[in-house]
Formats: sequence, structure tokens, C-alpha cells
Amino acid sequence: MKREITLRVNNKNETLAVDDADSLLEVLRDRLKLWSVRESCGVGACGSCTVLLDGRPVSSCLLLAVRSTGREITTLEGLGDGQSLHPIQQAFVNERALQCAYCTPGFVLSVKALLDELPHPSEEEAKEYLSGNLCRCAGYAEILRAVRSAQEKTAR
Ligand code: FES
Ligand code: FES
Repeated sequence: MKREITLRVNNKNETLAVDDADSLLEVLRDRLKLWSVRESCGVGACGSCTVLLDGRPVSSCLLLAVRSTGREITTLEGLGDGQSLHPIQQAFVNERALQCAYCTPGFVLSVKALLDELPHPSEEEAKEYLSGNLCRCAGYAEILRAVRSAQEKTAR
């Protein structure tokens, strides 16, 4: 059954008709064309579909779109100013913390949530926070260096 819902995505209201069974991932990607939200495992195990829900990282493949109304949803497209890279994205580039970049949007959003919550995380805290995001080709050492570098730029 279709129903009309309004999602708040990247500071904009988006009203659309969805099936009750549509995941947030499907709606963000297939309907709103937010290509940074990527599907890999489809079962909440890889983090490539990570978005922020009220500032917290969640796997959008596990969430129903109809249960996501009234929340602030942020995808990678909502992070920068549209002109230049966000400091966390720049840190990933500077530290060569990506290769194919399939996992990178999810990692960047998880790092954003981490640094919002813990501006000065220890390496163990960063590892723990990012444990839901998997990367199959870049090195985790580079990703942790990117976290440190981003932390220096974003620390309050
Ligand atoms: S596609 Fe959602 S966690 Fe893997
Ligand atoms: S950079 Fe390829 S999966 Fe992470």
C-alpha cells in the first residue's frame, strides 16, 4: 500500500508516496537520487548505506522510510557547502584513506557523528565507533589518520 510521507532530508522537506515496505535506503537513492547512499550487504552489516538520523549514524537499509518521518536525515550531499569539501572529506583525501570510495560516504558520516559526540576521541574510541563501517580496499590505518587529521580541523 502506498502512502504519502514527508521526510526531512539535508534540511529540505521531501514529500513523496512510498510503499510501507520501502527502506529508507531505497527512497533516498532511487527516489531522491542521493547517490552517496550505497547498498552493499543489505542486512546492516557493512555501513555503506550509513546516513545520520538526528545526528546519529544508522544503516538506512534496515530502516523503513515510513518510520523515518519527523527526523533530521543527513546524507553526504548535506554535509558540505556545495562548493568545497567538508574538512572530514578533505582529511580522507589528504590521508589517502580511500581507494574505490564505495565505503567512503558511510565512513565520513560516521566520523562526523563521532567528532560531534567526542571531539577528541582516543584511537580505541574511534575504532569502536567506526566498527560498523567496513572497507574492503583502503587501509584502516589511513582511515584512522584521517580521523585524527579531521579532528584537528574540527575540534571545538
Ligand atoms: S547495505 Fe546497509 S549495512 Fe550494508
Ligand atoms: S575504499 Fe574501497 S571499500 Fe573502502
